[in-house]
Amino acid sequence: MSESHDTGFFYLPMKILAIETSCDETAIAIAEFSGSKKKPALSVLSNIVSSQMALHAKFGGVVPNLARREHQKNLPHILKMALQEAGMLARQPKKRSLREIEKILGREPELLKRFKKEVVTLKAPDIDAIAVTHGPGLAPALWVGVNFANALAKLWHKPIFPINHMEGHLYSALLNQGQKLAVIKFPALALLVSGGHTELVLIKNFGKYKIIGETLDDAAGEAFDKVARILGLPYPGGPEISKAAENSKVWRRALPRKLPRPMLNSKDYNFSFSGLKTAVLYLVRDLPRTQPLKIARPAIAKEFQSAVVDVLIAKTIRAAKEYKVKTILLGGGVAANKLLRKILAEETEKNLPTAGCRLPALCMTGDNALMIALAAILGKNKKTRKIIRADANIRLGN
Ligand code: KG4
Ligand code: ZN
Repeated sequence: MSESHDTGFFYLPMKILAIETSCDETAIAIAEFSGSKKKPALSVLSNIVSSQMALHAKFGGVVPNLARREHQKNLPHILKMALQEAGMLARQPKKRSLREIEKILGREPELLKRFKKEVVTLKAPDIDAIAVTHGPGLAPALWVGVNFANALAKLWHKPIFPINHMEGHLYSALLNQGQKLAVIKFPALALLVSGGHTELVLIKNFGKYKIIGETLDDAAGEAFDKVARILGLPYPGGPEISKAAENSKVWRRALPRKLPRPMLNSKDYNFSFSGLKTAVLYLVRDLPRTQPLKIARPAIAKEFQSAVVDVLIAKTIRAAKEYKVKTILLGGGVAANKLLRKILAEETEKNLPTAGCRLPALCMTGDNALMIALAAILGKNKKTRKIIRADANIRLGN
């Protein structure tokens, strides 16, 4: 057991219970890391993701306070499921003072109620540490997970790894073949595309990051979601737009004009998607009567998807060449996009034949807690025994 070491990284073997609540998924995973410092091996003991998507879909997007309430309701139950799957669920009917826990969960009354009923009666599981997303994300949602982690750490006397959500998406790319971790060679470059972020991250080594480009306005996933709304498609828009695009057979003829590729030729590695969204809005507004949205929708969806992918890929490949990277990683919810995956693999092979391209397994693209456990270890993060705080605006590399 590595419990007495507070410096953090790479005391293997290590079992980590990870918690993720930065947006609309409540997720808990338990992972065991073994092997050597240089080559850690992973064994997934449990990986539970409970999505609130259907709930938020009615509102056309994630409602932060609704997410907060749902995380409070879900966490104790998801914890029990994760412990059960890992063979760690056992009861311990012991009375203990709950004063500290009551203080930690003072702002999460629903969670406190359930915690007292369902969690304090559990036997402390055989884990070495807790990892939790402390940012970036929706502040009310993040705080629930962070306070839950603080309370568990107090109850079970475990240290906490506070983890950056984007670092989780970054390492999720290494899980693309069951539980075997793919190799990463440095320098590496990650294209992280989610609902809240679009970033190109240069990775000098495990835990050493520099954001070399990012979106100046909407994130790629956000653009998919907003354009889906314009096209009359439900939330989340990413999968809906891809699906609609696949139905486009007559797309060039049905499309009155092409959409712009914003910042495609700008010298930096930044992105901008809000103008593209506005261009879609005008395109829809100007549709001829003979070609209503119902008919033009697949063509517009396809053209929009191509525009986003064109810009993402062009900048990624250009940055990869400039920094002479040896591995390209793709991560985030938009990494589920088939076209993006296909073109990134093709272009990497064409332009950087000696570099490898790592695409996360589809089940690892959306938010999950397994990626948070991965980041705790691979990112060489430090653990602490102090009460931690959420920070909705943290950035990689700062
Ligand atoms: O990483 P994620 O699950 O949550 C955040 O941290 O934001 O990303 C969610 C985003 C949503 O905007 C969703 O529309 C997008 O990922 N997305 C996709 C696809 N699947 C999900 N975007 C494009 N194509 C997809 N197949
Ligand atoms: Zn995410």
